[in-house]
Order: sequence, then structure tokens, then C-alpha cells
Amino acid sequence: MVIVMAPEATREDIETIVEVITAAGGSAFVSRGVNRTIIGLVGDVAQFGALNLRGMRGVADVMRVTAPYKLVSRDNHPERSTVRVGGVPIGPGTVTLIAGPCAVETPQQTLEAAEMAKAAGATLLRGGAYKPRTSPYAFQGLGEEGLRILADVRTATGLPIVTEVVDAHDVDLVASYADMLQIGTRNAQNFALLQAVGGVGKPVMLKRGMNATIEEWLMAAEYIAQRGNLDIVLCERGIRTFETATRNTLDVSAVPVAQRLSHLPVIVDPSHSGGRRDLVLPLTRAAIAVGADGVIIDVHPHPEQALCDGPQALVNGDLRELARVMRQLPPLLGKSAV
Ligand code: E4P
Ligand code: PEP
Repeated sequence: MVIVMAPEATREDIETIVEVITAAGGSAFVSRGVNRTIIGLVGDVAQFGALNLRGMRGVADVMRVTAPYKLVSRDNHPERSTVRVGGVPIGPGTVTLIAGPCAVETPQQTLEAAEMAKAAGATLLRGGAYKPRTSPYAFQGLGEEGLRILADVRTATGLPIVTEVVDAHDVDLVASYADMLQIGTRNAQNFALLQAVGGVGKPVMLKRGMNATIEEWLMAAEYIAQRGNLDIVLCERGIRTFETATRNTLDVSAVPVAQRLSHLPVIVDPSHSGGRRDLVLPLTRAAIAVGADGVIIDVHPHPEQALCDGPQALVNGDLRELARVMRQLPPLLGKSAV
């Protein structure tokens, strides 16, 4: 941590800071410039955080040098991690295809969507039984009935299930059916929910909050990790920008940035980013090209009847091209499709 003193800071101001840091068990190294003095701090950064250094007289700025997250940081774990979901790897060296309906609507729709996903090469099935909707009047998901449908479709297809949990009270129930728990963009900073999924012993896919910086996203992951669960996959799903042509703006650069800062796998959701069927395949290509460890894609047998997000769902006619992208692109990056 570094403290930058204001030009008008006095010798007493600097000495007071050195005393406070020393009393907190740290060391302070003062470096006097012509106009400014900088104080480098060595010690327990968390403890320094409690000192309100920014509020002390003569202080212009306080800057962290190390990342505020630890367990998910690559500093603490230089090797990139692989997370296994029902035996399916998500991590460096592979590009995992997760696909399925946005929402579980009926047994037949879910089975058909799962078969579409499998035909395109998916090894994990997505599907929401609890839907976080903007409108309280919109379809909210089938709840536990939807989880039962997913479990039946898993038995029929062999595809492990990724499904969202939106309420901390439902975590045990959802975890009793799911192979991987999803935290959606709207709950990406619901800290009680993050802690609850961190304690349940299932892999977690953490979507980036639509308004979250990469650091805030990694801090959210730290909440899960802190409860003893490091089986976390980060998912870039587009952020809010001024652009209205797409539903969200896919932040392609977030993939290599997050991979450099964290050892956790990073996947991309091209469906919720663009919000448009015609963009899903181009954004999938972009995601794989930038190094994503997987993609999660909405498919629907009859998107015109979908109860949620029909306009972004791939249809049967798109599957051949999706399968081709998955077959051809990963090897160009030295990876294999899973
Ligand atoms: C889908 O997965 C989400 O629940 C959906 O994108 C929510 O958006 P909306 O409720 O604004 O349609
Ligand atoms: C979803 O994948 O079903 C979903 C709700 O996505 P997001 O949280 O990214 O909007």
C-alpha cells in the first residue's frame, strides 16, 4: 500500500502516519520528493484498511499495490484452475459448450432443447427453474417442478445440469438437484447468496454483474471462495453501456484480463450479451478466439413460444454451424472442445 501526501503536508503529519502504521504492526518507508512525499507501507493490508488513512491530515491518496482479493487471485495460485462439473472439465486447454433452454417450461421443451444442445456438442445442460425477471408479471420459472424436469432430462441425456439459484433460502434445494449452481448477473453482488453457495459444496458459475467492474466481479468470487469453495467459474455476459443496438455489450477484453488476475476459468455467455440470435455465433467465435474456457448458449425448439428470452435462442437450423465452430476454432488455439 502506498500513501501519497498532499504538497502542503507537514513533517508532523508524516510522523503521525508513521507512528500509526508502526503501532498497527506495520512498517512505513518515507520517500521525500521535491513537491510530494510518498510513504510505502509493508504489513497486513487488511489491518491498515481499518485505520482510515484517507481521512488523516495531509493525506492526498491511498493506493493498494496488491489485489484486494486473495483466494481467487493468480498471485496466490499461479496455475490456472480447472473446475469439474459432473466430470466435465472447464479450464485451460479446453472449450466447454454449455447449452440448453433459458427457462425450463415443460418436460418436452426441456428434453428437446437438451437434445439440440447435445447435437451441437454440448456436454453440460443449462436451464433456469428460478428466473430473475425484470417484471414481477413475467414468467418466474417453475421452481422445484423445473428442477425435477431438469433431473429427468439429465437421466435421459446424460448431461449434467447448470441451473440458477436466486434466493439464499433455496440454495440447499437447488444444490440437491444441480451439478453446478449459477449466480446470475442480477445477484452477482448479493453477498448472502454468494456466501450460501460457497458453503454448499457444488461448483458455482458466477456471472459478472452487468454494472460490475472486473475487480468487483473477482471480489464477489472471493465471497464464495472464502466459504471454502474454489470450484468457481467466472462468466462474462455483457455489461451495460450507452449502446442500445445490443442487449448488453460483450466485454471481450474482460476474458484475458480476468484470466490474468485470477486462476479461475472464464467462460462467455454470447446469448445474454447480444440478446439477438443473429449475434450468438459471431460472439461465440469472438469468445473462443479471445481465449474463453467455454461458452453458455440458449437454445429453444420453438423460440417464438418461449416464456423467456426467445429472441436470443438458437434454433435447430443454427446447430450445425455451432457444432462447426466448436470443432474448428478451439484447435487453432491449442485447445480441444468439450
Ligand atoms: C434470463 O435468463 C433472464 O431471466 C432474463 O434475461 C431476464 O430479463 P427480463 O426479465 O428483462 O426479460
Ligand atoms: C441466465 O443465464 O439464465 C440469466 C438469467 O443470465 P444473466 O444473469 O446473465 O442475465
